[in-house]
Amino acid sequence: MGVRCVAIGSCGRGKIDTGVVWMAFRGCGAAAAVLALLSAAIALYGPPLHAVIQRAFSLHKAHSTKDMENLFQLVRNIVPALTSKKHKGQDGRIGIVGGCQEYTGAPYFAGISALKVGADLTHVFCTREAAPVIKSYSPELIVHPVLDSSNALQEVEKWLPRLHALVVGPGLGRDDFLLNNVMNILEATKARDIPIIIDADGLWLIAQLPALIHGYQKAILTPNRVEFSRLWEAVLTGPVDTKDHSGSVLKLSQALGNITVVQKGEHDLISDGWQVLVCSQEGSSRRCGGQGDLLSGSLGVMAHWALLAGREKTNGSNPLLVAAWGACTLTRECNHQAFQKYGRSTTTTDMIAEVGTAFSKLFKT
Ligand SMILES: *[C@@H]1O[C@H](CO)[C@@H](O)[C@H](O)[C@H]1NC(C)=O
Ligand SMILES: *[C@@H]1O[C@H](CO)[C@@H](O)[C@H](O)[C@H]1NC(C)=O
Repeated sequence: MGVRCVAIGSCGRGKIDTGVVWMAFRGCGAAAAVLALLSAAIALYGPPLHAVIQRAFSLHKAHSTKDMENLFQLVRNIVPALTSKKHKGQDGRIGIVGGCQEYTGAPYFAGISALKVGADLTHVFCTREAAPVIKSYSPELIVHPVLDSSNALQEVEKWLPRLHALVVGPGLGRDDFLLNNVMNILEATKARDIPIIIDADGLWLIAQLPALIHGYQKAILTPNRVEFSRLWEAVLTGPVDTKDHSGSVLKLSQALGNITVVQKGEHDLISDGWQVLVCSQEGSSRRCGGQGDLLSGSLGVMAHWALLAGREKTNGSNPLLVAAWGACTLTRECNHQAFQKYGRSTTTTDMIAEVGTAFSKLFKT
């Protein structure tokens, strides 16, 4: 169980690439043949560069500890240093679009997680009714009650120039009027080249209108299994290949124009249509509502950091892949630490309380 594995894949151009790709599978055996293939590939083509995973082969733990270490290092590389020279806002001003009458917890969780990970300011754009509720949870969030107004776009656009990333979907709901406003906000955000993380009912909107996000290189979608299938049906034909999870994630990313897709599950699979990373940091068997909001909020900050750092700091890999892997790893570690203390009664609030120690443990430089 939880054996860490390196995966390699054929790049489909008649040669084998070994990759900056890490996989873990339950009960994967040490495949001697694959080992030989990997050694041969390294001998032929030198050190690992990039890989497209079409088939995932698994190797034994001992061969990947160093690779995992490398990914941790890449995340550390993108984390900005804390110095007294900076002014407030430089480490991240993150916007959250979501929060309506029924759902007020999700945007709060996403917003507070962004702050705990290291953002300087978080703005929540929600409906009029949801605003006082979200404000009462925390004095640390800036809350704008604009999402159900007829000038929602103008209200959000005022703030867009100052935002480094936008997280769309936590507690959004499916009201047509709201979703129409969100559509316009997405267009305006794309026009400003701001990274966009889409989760929950934001993904429902994308499944209705994939063109909204198709090919936008700064988009990251974070579907669970159900949301993944819905997106799949919107842009691909035939059922999801349940035997080849990483291949499916790669394919969905490509069908959406190579935007970053994070499939949440027993292991999180992350692809930009070119590489597939697997995050299998130990979490727990406890799944509580709100965990996904911790992921989307922290991903908002890390996406900003990663794009700011650029490919030199991520060793040539797509910065958004590194950000996504970092946020998944952090979320799972928070789950693990909270579970150690609270077991079955673990909730998202307990997980958020672990962000500081989990972050230091994983990424302290
Ligand atoms: C960066 O890439 C080089 C060459 O592909 C590899 O040898 C090295 O281990 C990588 N370093 C990290 C930190 O990933
Ligand atoms: C997406 O990436 C794949 C693999 O690099 C490439 O073959 C394909 O042309 C790209 N698609 C788009 C729309 O850029």
